[in-house]
Amino acid sequence: PIETPIETGRVIIVGAGLAAQYAALKLAPRPVLMISPEALGTGASSAWAQGGVAAAMDPADSADAHARDTVTAGAGTVDPGVASSVTAEARDHILDLTGLGTPFDRTADGSYVLSREAAHSFARVVRVQGDQAGAEIMRALTVQVREADHIQVLEGVMATALEVSGGRVTGVAVVRCDQGQSASVTLRGTAVLLAGGGSGGLYALTTNPPRIRGQVIGMAARAGAQIADAEFVQFHPTAMACGLDPAPLATEALRGEGAVLVNRHGDRFMVEAHPDAELAPRDIVARAVYAQTQDGLAPALDTRAALGAKILTDFPAVAAACQQAGLDPVTQVIPVAAAAHYHMGGVATDADGASTLPGLWACGEVASTGLHGANRLASNGLLEALVYGRRCALAIDAALPAPRAAAPVTLPDLPAAETPDPALVTRLRQAMTDGAGVIRTAGGLTRTLTDIAAIEAAQPGCETLANMTATATLIAAAALLRRESRGAHFRSDFPHPDGATGIRSLMTLTDALAI
Ligand code: SIN
Repeated sequence: PIETPIETGRVIIVGAGLAAQYAALKLAPRPVLMISPEALGTGASSAWAQGGVAAAMDPADSADAHARDTVTAGAGTVDPGVASSVTAEARDHILDLTGLGTPFDRTADGSYVLSREAAHSFARVVRVQGDQAGAEIMRALTVQVREADHIQVLEGVMATALEVSGGRVTGVAVVRCDQGQSASVTLRGTAVLLAGGGSGGLYALTTNPPRIRGQVIGMAARAGAQIADAEFVQFHPTAMACGLDPAPLATEALRGEGAVLVNRHGDRFMVEAHPDAELAPRDIVARAVYAQTQDGLAPALDTRAALGAKILTDFPAVAAACQQAGLDPVTQVIPVAAAAHYHMGGVATDADGASTLPGLWACGEVASTGLHGANRLASNGLLEALVYGRRCALAIDAALPAPRAAAPVTLPDLPAAETPDPALVTRLRQAMTDGAGVIRTAGGLTRTLTDIAAIEAAQPGCETLANMTATATLIAAAALLRRESRGAHFRSDFPHPDGATGIRSLMTLTDALAI
C-alpha cells in the first residue's frame, strides 16, 4: 500500500452479491462500506443463479426432509447440525425476500411455484419467471442497498489483501479497477466480512462471471485463515458448450421439466448411468457428460419434446444464451459440457460465519460452513448466502461496541499498478482443468501444483495473481491429499469412497505449500 491507511469506522464487506448485500442490510444502522469491483448488482455469481432458492414451502414438504436430502447429496461430509439449522430458516428468508421486493412466481391462490431439481425428494425450489431468480433477487436487494443510509458502496474497487495486526484482521488493501488497476491503499474497518464469491474462473470452462477466480479465498488464505474442503469443486453438467467464456448455464430445472441428455448418436446415456437418469446427483451427471465429451460423443441437452417453444418464455436466460450462440432450442439440441460451477470449499467458518482469524467473518460461496459437503444440493447456494449473511451481520454486531456515525470514505487518486498477465491466467486455468478438474490423479495433481508455482513465480509481486494461485494451490493440494473419491472429488486412482462418512479437510496455505 502506498498511502497511510484510511480509518473508515465501518464494517467492511468485500463483495456485492447476495450474501454481501443481505448482510449489509441486516447490519443496519451500523455503518458499512461495501467493496464492489463492478457496478452494484452486476458481476456477482448470485445474479446469474438460474434455479432459485431451495426452501420447504409446500405444506407436504418439511425442513427435515430438505436437511436429509442435503446430507445425502453431500456424500458423507455435510455437518447434519448445519443442514438442520439452515433448512429450518429457509422459509423465513423467502418471506423476507418477498417483503424486500422479490417477485417470486406464485400460483392463483398465492402459493409459491416450486421447481424440481436433482437429488431433491420434493419440488422445493422457489423461482422467478423460470430462470430469473438470481437476477430478480439481486435487482430487489440492490434497490434496498442503494436506498440504505448506513451503506456506502465503493464501485470499481477491488480488495487485494487483508491487513493483519496483532493477530487480528484490521483492514483491507484495495485497488481501483475502474480505469485499469492501481496501487493499493488500506482501508481500516471495525470488522471485515468476506463475501466475494467462489473460484469457478480458475478453470478454463466455467459458468461463473469473469472476475470470480478464487481471489477472495486466496486473500484469506494468504492472511493465515484455515480453508476447509478446498478440493470439493462442483462441476455443472449442462454448461452450454458454444465457445463462450464464461459458458452460459442451461439450468438443471430444464431437466426437472423433462429435458433429456443425448449424445451424437441420439442415445440417452444417463438412463444407463443411474436409476434417476437426468435427475441423478449433479456429480454423477457431470462425470457422465464429461466422459461423453472426452469420447468425442458431443453430449447435448434436448429440451424439444419436454418444452417445445415454451423454453422461450419460461426460460428467458437460457433462450437468450442460445440466441447469442446462434442456436434455436425449439428445433435444435443444446451442446453441453461439464464446467466449474460452485466451490463447496472455502474459508472455514463457525455457525456464526466467524473465520479462524479474529476480526474476520465470511459468508456465501467464499465460506465453507459444512452445509454442502462434497456435493452441493441444487439451489442450496443462495439459501446458504441468506442464512449466513444474516448470521454474520448479527454476530458482527454483537462483537462490536455500539455503532457510531461514520463519514463517507473518499479514495485518493492512486497510480497505476501491475495487473495479472492474461497469458499467465489462461495458463493457470488450463493447468487446473487438466490436473484438478472433473477426473483427478496423483500424477495430474502433482503436475498442476508444479505449474501453479511456476505461474506465480513468473509475475512476483502481483497480489491478484497471488490470490488466484493461493486458491489453486489449496484446491490441488487438498485433492492430492484426499486419496479417495467422494461427491464432486473423483480420483481415478482411488475411485471409491473411503467409508460411508468422510472427514472434512482443513488446511492453511502454509500446509498446502508444504505438500
Ligand atoms: C441450476 O440452475 O442448474 C443451478 C442451480 C444451482 O447451482 O444451485
